Amino acid sequence: MNTIDIRRSIRKYEDRKIEKGKIEKILRAAMQAPSAHNQQPWEFIVVEDKELLSTISKMHNYSAMIANAGCAIIPVANKDYIKEPDFWQQDMSAAVQNILLEVVEQGLGAVWVGVAPKENLMLYLKRIFGLPEDIIPFAIIPIGYTERQNKFKDRFDERRVHYNKW
Ligand SMILES: Cc1cc2nc3c(=O)[nH]c(=O)nc-3n(C[C@H](O)[C@H](O)[C@H](O)COP(=O)(O)O)c2cc1C
Repeated sequence: MNTIDIRRSIRKYEDRKIEKGKIEKILRAAMQAPSAHNQQPWEFIVVEDKELLSTISKMHNYSAMIANAGCAIIPVANKDYIKEPDFWQQDMSAAVQNILLEVVEQGLGAVWVGVAPKENLMLYLKRIFGLPEDIIPFAIIPIGYTERQNKFKDRFDERRVHYNKW
């Protein structure tokens, strides 16, 4: 089974820190993502502090798992790097997907917690981290060790494939 097949959203984590080496490999994967005009609009906030994890876990009803993560990565876009304003969210999404796949490679689990484009959520994180105007929080990815084996779910649906015509 390849990495793409066994990636699943993992929301339960062991009470264990993530090694710096693993975090670096995950961030390296993030920064290998494609981006429009190669603009690479991303920067990353790594949150390891338990209290801070607990605070950001209160962002909304579906972010509680962040409190128990070994760490969380918050990809943010820096407006200074954005040349193609219409595409920065797609660039950030590509980076997030690379993170999720490298997490599997590192024997860890994670889930994409959505932030942008919801203004209230972006503001919530901006306030907590005191982010400057030019820095836009995009998502939160809690990461942790997990006992659960990632399982393959086949989602291929040939009715959604159109060769040459609709
Ligand atoms: C843009 C985006 C936002 C998401 N936000 C949340 C979230 O806030 N909380 C959560 O538990 N899962 C979140 N997810 C994860 C999805 O629920 C999950 O990917 C989906 O149910 C499919 O399951 P799988 O990732 O295991 O394949 C988000 C996924 C995406 C792509």
